[in-house]
Order: sequence, then C-alpha cells, then structure tokens
Amino acid sequence: MASQPSKIPNSIEMFDRTADGYDENTGGCTVDVARHIISISPPITSTSTILDNASGTGAISQAILRPFKLSQLSPPHVTLADGAAGMIRVAKAELARLALPVQNTDFVVAPAEDLSSLQDDVFSHSFTNMGLPLFVDGERASREIHRTVKPGGTAVVTSWRSFGYLDPVRDAQAVVLPGTEPFDLPLAKKWFDPEYIEKVMREAGFENVQMGSFEAWYAAESEEKIANFLVRLTEAVPWMKGKRDEILAELQKTVVKYAKKVKKMVYHGDKEIEVELVGLSMMAIVAVCKK
Ligand SMILES: C[S@@+](CC[C@H](N)C(=O)[O-])C[C@H]1O[C@@H](n2cnc3c(N)ncnc32)[C@H](O)[C@@H]1O
Repeated sequence: MASQPSKIPNSIEMFDRTADGYDENTGGCTVDVARHIISISPPITSTSTILDNASGTGAISQAILRPFKLSQLSPPHVTLADGAAGMIRVAKAELARLALPVQNTDFVVAPAEDLSSLQDDVFSHSFTNMGLPLFVDGERASREIHRTVKPGGTAVVTSWRSFGYLDPVRDAQAVVLPGTEPFDLPLAKKWFDPEYIEKVMREAGFENVQMGSFEAWYAAESEEKIANFLVRLTEAVPWMKGKRDEILAELQKTVVKYAKKVKKMVYHGDKEIEVELVGLSMMAIVAVCKK
C-alpha cells in the first residue's frame, strides 16, 4: 500500500508559492467563516484596533473595511500579518483593487509564533481565521495572540472540524487507485478537536473561552468547477501523479453525489447579493476568547 508523507510541512512556503490562486481554490469557505466571526464579535468602530492574523489574502480585513467604505466613517486600525510575503502582497493588492479605506492599515510579514514586532495589549479584536491547523507551533502562536490582545479585548480563532471535499476525493481515488491509503490533509489532527483548541486557548491565558461551530460551504457555480478545484489537491500527492485526468473524470461524478444547492451572500462590487451555488459542507470550529 502506498503511503503518504508523515512529516507535517511548514505551510508558509506552500502558501507563498500559491498566493495568487488562493481565493479561487478555497471555494469561498474561509470567507463564509470570516463573515460569521465578525458578526458574532463585539461591534467594530473607528476606534477599534484589529489584528488579522494569518491574514492570507485579507478575508477578515476586507469584510471589516467594506462598511467603512460605504459609511465613509474613519476606518479602524487594522494590522494584517502573515508568514507568507506572497499572501501579504496579494492582500495589499486586493484591498487596493476594492478601493477600501486603508489609511489606518499596516501589513506585516511575520510568523504567528513570533509577533514580536507587535506590542503587548494592543488589539481590541484579534482574528485568526483558519491559521491554527497550519502553524508549525499553534500553541506558541496562541500565546502570541493572548499577549497582543488588550485586556477586555476579544480574540476569535477558528479551525475545521470536517472537510466536505474529502469524501468525493477519496471516492474518486478508490476507483482510480484502489487499495491506496485514503487521501488526507498533511495537518495535525489535534487542531480538528474543539476540546483541544479550548484547552490551548485557556492555557495561553484566556479565562473566558466560548466554543461554537459554523457550517461553511466549499462552493462554486457548478459541480464541474468544484471537481476542477479539487483535482489540484491530488496533484500535490506524489503517488497520485500521472492520474490527474482519470481522477478528474471520477471527481465529476463523485462531487455530484455530495454537493448540495446553497444560497450564499457574496459581494458584487460594493453590494451584497444572494447567489445560488452548489457546495460541499465544511464545518468550522469557532473559539471566542476574552482577555
Ligand atoms: C487557510 S489560510 C487562511 C487565510 C485567511 N485567514 C482566510 O481566512 O482566508 C492560512 C494562512 O496562514 C498562513 N500561515 C501558515 N503558517 C503560518 C505561520 N506559521 N505564521 C503565519 N502565517 C502562517 C498562510 O500563509 C495562509 O495565508
């Protein structure tokens, strides 16, 4: 039986290389969670100080800054930090493309495990959306989150509990490469356990930690489009190399089996509109932590 690499890679390099295609490859699922966690956080005003930690292309910052563009109120202070310089480059370009008000926005290339360029006790709101499972040392990163939040401030961290795209990928693999070890993500499983995340956040210093969940969708206009995104996941697996076309053909069938019709609010210019898409369910773990 072919086996997968056991080493958990440092994902910063991978995200750096793939930053330009990131938004397309996520099927909007991290944006769903970003919007949800902002909506359950204390209100954000012009005087808020915000950390968008492991910002990626800036899903959190975009959702925070959009209402300030429309209202023309002075925007809050926002710091985007990411270990991958490529992500910060794309985030900066996206905020500019959307003409968002960035006069109080900073961009920092920094590993979440060492935010020493940021002072203690500064952020009223700290968001780490889908960063924890990717960090080399998530426990240390959690202590940095706690250190940089103001007393009385709120940090929200998220992870995934389940990935709706794994079943269609594994079903396709079972047809094309029967007997091989089912495809999995090279991530430490402890970060998919809400109890472990609660424990880590408490040990980081947060006394009040509220755990919740949220259903997001890995979605696109058609099942075919989802299959085209998903086949890229398998391209990274050495023992699936050379099987791309066969896996894609099977994925076209297996995605149809699992995908559901979903309605999503998406941005269209500055407006939010409802669109009907097809999607695979992604269950998120949400921890709201008060300092
Ligand atoms: C799944 S993406 C999430 C991005 C964004 N928060 C969102 O909601 O779309 C994870 C991000 O974590 C970053 N990352 C991975 N390891 C990191 C580390 N050790 N320190 C800082 N950022 C890291 C990656 O570069 C990537 O931008």
